[in-house]
Amino acid sequence: MAFPGFWVVFEGADGVGKTTQVDLLAAHLRSPAGGAREVLTTREPGGTPLGIELRQAIMHGDHVAPRAEALLYAADRAHHIATLVRPALEAGTVVLQDRYLDSSVVYQGGARGLGEEVERISLWATEGLLPDLTVVLDMEPDPARMSRDLDRVERETIAKAAQMREGFLGRAALDRARYAVVDAARTVEEVHASVVEAVTAAMARRDGLAVEPWGTP
Ligand code: TMP
Repeated sequence: MAFPGFWVVFEGADGVGKTTQVDLLAAHLRSPAGGAREVLTTREPGGTPLGIELRQAIMHGDHVAPRAEALLYAADRAHHIATLVRPALEAGTVVLQDRYLDSSVVYQGGARGLGEEVERISLWATEGLLPDLTVVLDMEPDPARMSRDLDRVERETIAKAAQMREGFLGRAALDRARYAVVDAARTVEEVHASVVEAVTAAMARRDGLAVEPWGTP
């Protein structure tokens, strides 16, 4: 991406710790040790005033038809990218974002069964803008719960969680250079250290500073 800023997206199933890791990474990057950078933290859905209204429409309304839901996420995304994220990247800001297009691909495309069209809609909505790095926070869906007697709804929830996990891992496997899969089943500090390592390496790669294993000076 040709912007002076740097864009990191966090993805993963619900409850995996994305918000905590966004906040910790922001604090690190703003500190002298992290380069005292200008950092914007944001999220989808709901990163703008219009996005907050769209988020309420998605989350707190009655049943929303799956295609309408997919379009509401895409509308939030289109406005968020055009009015907040793209201008920040152009201004040289590091943008740390909680969820992006992969969430639509995995939740609406996969879990809701809407298929590949969902990715195309998001790409149209954002004029094809893709992050410099997507960090997938990966965790096995609550193994303690698996062993208990489960009712039908619980079984379905866990099956869905497993499907989400596979969805995000599948996305990451498509493009190793733009994704980092981080084991999120560790302490917050351990996960943070891995996140910092992945982001630092991606920033160095983007700036052409990576030292190749075969010894480029
Ligand atoms: P969160 O902001 O607490 O992560 O919640 C957002 C919820 O919305 C979460 O369950 C995932 C879902 N979601 C989608 O289904 N599609 C999307 O494109 C996005 C951004 C979120």
